[in-house]
Amino acid sequence: MLKGNHDERPEKYLEKNAPALAADDVHYRFEQLLDFDGFGVELVAPYYPIAPGWVAIHGHESKGLNQIAGRTAASKAKKAGVSVVMGHTHRLAISPESTGYGGKLRTLYGFEVGHLMDVRKATYLKNGPANWQRGFGLIYAGKYGATPHAIPVEDDGSFVVEGERYGRISRTTGGRFAPKGKAA
Ligand SMILES: [Fe+2]
Repeated sequence: MLKGNHDERPEKYLEKNAPALAADDVHYRFEQLLDFDGFGVELVAPYYPIAPGWVAIHGHESKGLNQIAGRTAASKAKKAGVSVVMGHTHRLAISPESTGYGGKLRTLYGFEVGHLMDVRKATYLKNGPANWQRGFGLIYAGKYGATPHAIPVEDDGSFVVEGERYGRISRTTGGRFAPKGKAA
């Protein structure tokens, strides 16, 4: 598990408002609050080597956001010189960038893995628009490289992986997403 900007809130709050306590506090760190030890979850540092040629970050560690899906991760991949998979933007896309010449090209990928939240509960949006895509990412890791797949999740929660649909399709006869309990 990587630590995100929201996960840092309790320790950042202590640092700001009670620096003397923050110095040796461990109780308000999210790995402690969520009992990582009890659940067998390991907290890893950003730029965690997740697959050959790939590192994982949350995405807030360095500055820079791009409104186009995938470009934030692509820019971080370019700077780091390694393919980057990350969250943070709530956008879903794989954005490759290749360099080289004479038929010898090297491709780095930026991969943003979307979000799995209920957008209606993001009260800070105040019902306004957001360029966010629900989904998740898969990385098929091989010995020398890895293949990224971006998986969109529909409004009814269903999604397709390798041609197989998971989750109940919840649509009306017209094909629109149905309100809860009113699927055709
Ligand atoms: Fe974030």
